[in-house]
Amino acid sequence: MTKKSIITSALPYANGEIHLGHVASTYLPADITTRFLKLKGVEAYYICASDDYGTPILLQAEKEKKDPQEYVKFWNKRDYEDFTALGINFDFFYRTSSPENITFVQEVFKKLLTNGHIYEKEIIQFYCKFDNKFLPDRYVIGTCPYCKAEDQYSDLCEKCGRVPEEIENPHCSICKNPPTKEKTKHYFFKLTNFVQELNKWLEEDSHLQKDVKKYVQNWIKEGLVDWDITRDIHWGVPIPLANAEGKVFYGWFDNHLAYISSTIKFLTDKGIDGKQFWNAADIYHFIGKDIVYHHYLFLPAMRIGIKKEYKLPDYIPTRGHLMLQAKKISKSRNWYIGLKDFLSLYPADYLRFYLTLITPHSQDDLNFDWEEFAARINSELIGNLGNFVNRALGFTQKSVDGIVPETEEFDSSDLEAQNKIKNLVNDLSPLMEQNNLDKTLKRILEFSAHFNQYFQQKEPWKGAKGTNNCIYLSVNAVHSIAIALYPFLPESSEQIWVQLNLSGKVSEQKWDSMSDLSISTNHKIGISSPLFKKVEMVDIEKHKAKLGTNGFS
Ligand code: 2FM
Ligand code: ZN
Repeated sequence: MTKKSIITSALPYANGEIHLGHVASTYLPADITTRFLKLKGVEAYYICASDDYGTPILLQAEKEKKDPQEYVKFWNKRDYEDFTALGINFDFFYRTSSPENITFVQEVFKKLLTNGHIYEKEIIQFYCKFDNKFLPDRYVIGTCPYCKAEDQYSDLCEKCGRVPEEIENPHCSICKNPPTKEKTKHYFFKLTNFVQELNKWLEEDSHLQKDVKKYVQNWIKEGLVDWDITRDIHWGVPIPLANAEGKVFYGWFDNHLAYISSTIKFLTDKGIDGKQFWNAADIYHFIGKDIVYHHYLFLPAMRIGIKKEYKLPDYIPTRGHLMLQAKKISKSRNWYIGLKDFLSLYPADYLRFYLTLITPHSQDDLNFDWEEFAARINSELIGNLGNFVNRALGFTQKSVDGIVPETEEFDSSDLEAQNKIKNLVNDLSPLMEQNNLDKTLKRILEFSAHFNQYFQQKEPWKGAKGTNNCIYLSVNAVHSIAIALYPFLPESSEQIWVQLNLSGKVSEQKWDSMSDLSISTNHKIGISSPLFKKVEMVDIEKHKAKLGTNGFS
């Protein structure tokens, strides 16, 4: 691990609210990782931005009769607020439409042009004579040639999930008239120039996920296609050439460049040389599996195309899609739960806990289930972890006035408990370094379960020999939990710290100190109170009934 890291997560489109599906695979794992790296003493920055350009956004803004600039500004602010409420702690949240990104994208394009990776080609595009405009992507709707579903976008059938080569019965999505076909000049990025270099990178970068790597290598084998990076619309980064007036870049040409331009802006404002930092850092891009193609092929090819002026990613943690009650999330069918709505019902840490436990570091899909949510919060977070913390601190307060007593000679169960504390950091660190966040959290729960048993078996309420040892070791175990838990449940972890009456904040501690027995005899703990409140099944029934209605939106 280097001492510097930049962490990014897929940039959210600025056209709608963040829902649980977004959070599970991308933003939460990235936040947990950043918090962990910071505790490890790494100079780590979590950078994100809203993805402001593209036809879907322009179309939506037009539908709502809003200026696209105003429209994306609204969603940028709202998304940031929702993320913050979940404890997603970006060091910087910017936008792809920033002046810095526009300049950067245009510079990258010019370099790619100079290096022979861009060419011009005349193509045929749908055109609406009534609206006087070209109709890229979603501007054309029609019948899917595969499944015959009507009213589908020309670039995606939402029914069968395929990308139609040519939509049947096309019509303009604005005025509904049939479009004509006109010639237009587009710019293409020569992805095919990079086959060798991409293969080399995929083979050599040992940190990339093996399962993802395999099928990316297969795509390369099947043959890559050059990318049309032009759109004839007015919303996007203008193509910086005299004969390209009225043309902008395709959203996927500019959006990932905002990883870099936003980082540079943030670091420059801090007086740090951004480019130097980027190239000396470990680079993480957290994504969901739907955008593997863009991150494993398009993004690295563009960086290679500008002679690796900015290094390629070291890690691209890729996770699966969240289902909701075993059904695919769909905003149009109201089958989703908005983040803001969820957080009006339950604390952020409940969601962080449950989503982390059900999200492996793989492309497997995951499932949000209301009953399982309640069960795991009630039994694992509250019944196990919360119970131990409360029991240990409550008993210390009651029996010895909150003052950690002197220890006696340790018996075998004390020694075992002491070893659990001493070994905790070695148990958890390799799992965290492999980004196995679910497994780490489970290990923390095992640690707490062990101490619950230890406490039960010691029966300190009987005041027999060994009671002092039990109090001393249990309070120290609570200290370990506070630190280990911090990346996952930052708010609860800080609360435990206050209940322990320790100075500073957990965020200022060292990850490795979870294995120190740092709470000594005579330390007086603070006031203890239950950290969590049970999830009631009657409420769960109510939430379930709201799914698929407008209740959550
Ligand atoms: O798929 C999406 O939601 C895109 N907005 C992700 C963009 S990530 C990029 F910037 F690389
Ligand atoms: Zn039209």
